[in-house]
Amino acid sequence: MQDPFLREQVGALVAKNPNFARVFETYNIDYCCKGQQTLLETCQAKRVDADAVISALHAEAQKPITERDWSHASACEVIDHIEKTYHIHLKQELPRLASLIDKVVKAHGKSHPELLEVQTTFAELHKDLLTHLEVEEVEVFPKIKSMETSSSPSSLDQPIASLINDHEHVEKYLERLSSLTNGYAVPQDACNSFLVMLTSLKELEGNLHRHVHMENSILFPKVQALQAR
Ligand SMILES: [Fe+2]
Ligand SMILES: [Fe+2]
Repeated sequence: MQDPFLREQVGALVAKNPNFARVFETYNIDYCCKGQQTLLETCQAKRVDADAVISALHAEAQKPITERDWSHASACEVIDHIEKTYHIHLKQELPRLASLIDKVVKAHGKSHPELLEVQTTFAELHKDLLTHLEVEEVEVFPKIKSMETSSSPSSLDQPIASLINDHEHVEKYLERLSSLTNGYAVPQDACNSFLVMLTSLKELEGNLHRHVHMENSILFPKVQALQAR
């Protein structure tokens, strides 16, 4: 008989159990921007061994869940968590990484010409993310909060569709950075700054996946439920 996990959407699986994110990260399965796909569709599209993924999910399901279950939190609480955890961290991390990349390009750009494209791709990601964070913090999140607290009827379908579109662009930049660095593999001639740059970019990728997942699969469905009240 087919495992019930196969019929579930990958984003919904992580919303139920955040430990599952570790499995999807291991198998390079996009549970944020492509979170609407079922596990079966994802495994078929990526040609991943579905049986291996299912065994890993069942193993994770046995472990204690350390993260809070956000599916039962209010939209206001989820927004506060997103801003405090992900937005503040990004605003500190992006400029730090930008200067680190500049330094590594100066030292290794000649022997690693791919670094120049890492630098330009990161600069575009940096610029787009700062605009995106501002739209969320100044325009969309306050509207969601007032919709929840005042029960005032309004539709946020358009601004949310635009944020989801931004998330897809972010994912494209991340895929490009991963491909340029061969999955953040450390070259033999890498100095310490080069190594720290690759580790930090890999961490940024994981953090952005969790961040986008919180918005696409946890916060935005709550907005749909508020609109349907
Ligand atoms: Fe955000
Ligand atoms: Fe976002």
